[in-house]
Amino acid sequence: PARPRVLSGIQPTADSFHLGNYLGAVRNWVALQETHDAFYCVVDLHAITAGHDPVVLRRRTRVAAAQLLAVGLDPERCTLFVQSQVPEHAQLAWVLDCLTGFGEASRMTQFKDKSAKQGAERASVGLFVYPILQAADILLYQADAVPVGEDQRQHLELTRDLAQRFNNLFGATFTVPEAYIVRDTAKITDLQDPSIKMSKSASSPAGIIELLDEPAKSAKKIKSAVTDTGREIYYDPEQKPGLSNLLTIYCALTGRAIDELVEAYAGKGYGDLKKDLAEVLTEFARPIRERTHLYLDDPAQLDKVLAAGGERARAVASTTLRTVYDRIGF
Ligand code: ADP
Ligand code: NA
Repeated sequence: PARPRVLSGIQPTADSFHLGNYLGAVRNWVALQETHDAFYCVVDLHAITAGHDPVVLRRRTRVAAAQLLAVGLDPERCTLFVQSQVPEHAQLAWVLDCLTGFGEASRMTQFKDKSAKQGAERASVGLFVYPILQAADILLYQADAVPVGEDQRQHLELTRDLAQRFNNLFGATFTVPEAYIVRDTAKITDLQDPSIKMSKSASSPAGIIELLDEPAKSAKKIKSAVTDTGREIYYDPEQKPGLSNLLTIYCALTGRAIDELVEAYAGKGYGDLKKDLAEVLTEFARPIRERTHLYLDDPAQLDKVLAAGGERARAVASTTLRTVYDRIGF
């Protein structure tokens, strides 16, 4: 039987993935390409909803793609592409815009949060319809499953509603996608403030590990991460959130179990753990950095990979859009 199809996207809104992006999302993408028919998309259309600089956007789109290849996406085993190279995303989004109620879209909590930050008058209509573009991203590929974190559940529900609505109105057209819940997804917290997640928008520079940072810089951040009172090393996210975050990262990067680590550090101090973790992290990130730079230093090759991925994506997307246009009377 054919492998189930998954679709996932990442915004090119930073110059490097941070450790949370990698351990919470991208690492699973690498695993999924072995078991699924995986489509992965650098969603540059989504990255212009709040103002942007064209030079920076172009650079970040390439960096995102290069990093995805560097962490192990294999263009022979998955379809990696850039959203703006497949015009069907915007075309299907318009059709879905017209099927979405204004009130329905207004209930999206991510829009409420983000527009509150930008100021309600200044928030773009693009930000408002963002989840509908996301629905188009998914439905174009007839994805069976979408890896989602908690924060994206509401958007996936909207996608499912829109797929069912279209199917009811115009005949069975779209696969209604399921949430793909990834077990063992690490939630990484900020190194300086374990009460918030590590995040490019909320973290201070010292609280966030960027995979492309100089090793010495990352090592220093690990060593100056806040830990908790006491000396003993054990895992307790409630009482020892800082220490537990470091243990989570350690486990995720080495594949060792928490219990095993706790045992290995019996009688040792926080300093020992941090020193070892800094080394684990820098050894882990070094080849990713090197491979990312190899891709970035060979723009023609990167273009070729992305053009091939774009063509494969487009073949699927255009087939879906043709059916959609036909069904709605275009
Ligand atoms: P950020 O929160 O830094 O803006 P994004 O929202 O662009 O990051 O997230 C990209 C992906 O990385 C999403 O799938 C998200 O769930 C995941 N992710 C982001 N931060 C973390 C984190 N601290 N721990 C685990 N996963 C995370
Ligand atoms: Na975010």
